[in-house]
Amino acid sequence: MQIQPVVAADIDAVVGLWREIFPEYNDPTRPQRDPRTNIVRKLAFGDGLFWLARDGDALVATAMAGYDGHRGWLYSLGVHPSQRGKGVGRLLVAHAEAELARRGCPKVNIQVLDSNSGAHAFWRAAGYQPDPVVSLGRRL
Ligand SMILES: CC(C)(COP(=O)(O)OP(=O)(O)OC[C@H]1O[C@@H](n2cnc3c(N)ncnc32)[C@H](O)[C@@H]1OP(=O)(O)O)[C@@H](O)C(=O)NCCC(=O)NCCS
Repeated sequence: MQIQPVVAADIDAVVGLWREIFPEYNDPTRPQRDPRTNIVRKLAFGDGLFWLARDGDALVATAMAGYDGHRGWLYSLGVHPSQRGKGVGRLLVAHAEAELARRGCPKVNIQVLDSNSGAHAFWRAAGYQPDPVVSLGRRL
């Protein structure tokens, strides 16, 4: 398994993978969740915090991170359904954490849908604990 930064040539393949992994990217009632737009915006930001995992020629997984000088965040961690349970998610998180730590990031946060019990188990196994906070957001 190879972990590499996502580049422009990967965009179509990442969009295809995300449509298989994240059901919200196929929800016509949520047009704001457009995977291509999100990927293009992240690549244009140019922070180098967006990776894929490849097994030979096959794109298997992605992870995205952000760091603002105070906290790091992880986003869009997803492994192709046929490749789960083999440690790929764990590998990508370790890579993202190492890249954030290398930039001086002291703490990493992650938001997980209440309903995503598999992801809750994954993050607990990766050493993440719930913080006593409520997550708020506002669309711009
Ligand atoms: C969550 C996800 C990324 C995990 O990826 P993965 O490659 O299957 O995870 P790993 O094989 O690295 O698992 C590491 C550990 O997490 C735990 N784990 C992972 N998935 C789990 C699940 N569905 N239920 C319970 N525990 C789980 C296990 O303890 C596992 O260790 P083990 O293999 O020694 O048992 C993957 O299931 C996925 O892509 N889900 C859909 C997208 C998603 O929900 N992303 C997270 C959004 S916050």
